[in-house]
Amino acid sequence: MDEKYKHLAEIIKKRRSIRTFLQKKVEKEKITKIIHSARYAPSAGNLQPLEIIIVDDPLIKQEIFYAALQQESIQSAPVVLVICGDVDRTASKYGKRGRELYVIQDIATATQNILLTATSLGLGTVWVGAFDEDKIRRILQLPKNVRPFAIIPIGYYEKEPEVPYKRSIEEIIHYNTW
Ligand SMILES: Cc1cc2nc3c(=O)[nH]c(=O)nc-3n(C[C@H](O)[C@H](O)[C@H](O)COP(=O)(O)O)c2cc1C
Repeated sequence: MDEKYKHLAEIIKKRRSIRTFLQKKVEKEKITKIIHSARYAPSAGNLQPLEIIIVDDPLIKQEIFYAALQQESIQSAPVVLVICGDVDRTASKYGKRGRELYVIQDIATATQNILLTATSLGLGTVWVGAFDEDKIRRILQLPKNVRPFAIIPIGYYEKEPEVPYKRSIEEIIHYNTW
């Protein structure tokens, strides 16, 4: 089997949502590598609306925890990334479709790069989407045009959870038409 495919497939399969982290610092170089991987994601018109807030201040992390249904993963992680998109940047070229679809897709694909790169560096992550957007905006002092899309707690972890149920290939494939 092609070695590059094998490595990539391993990382994709190894990635799990990790919600409890060890109290061990994450190296700054690893965070930098993770963010570089997000820069290389595709984006509509190559407009690159991605903006990332690195949160390692315990007080701000605590506020985010309360704005995100008090999810344990946020409190437990030594560092949290808030993945945002500059909606106006994409809307300036693509209007409504840019604002309502492309920017979301741009940030989602960048976020997946983050999750996979973190996995390859031995770090655990979880994509947290359940949060009060207005509260997050206020806590992080985001400008009006910048929307927070995902919160990613990152850290070392002890135990990998079992692979949760994934639908089979037969269930999801449709040949030619539905
Ligand atoms: C858009 C989105 C939002 C999510 N929101 C949350 C969340 O708020 N809290 C959480 O613990 N997990 C959240 N998850 C993680 C999913 O629960 C998880 O991916 C799913 O259960 C499959 O497990 P796996 O990631 O280990 O494959 C979210 C995932 C996505 C893609």
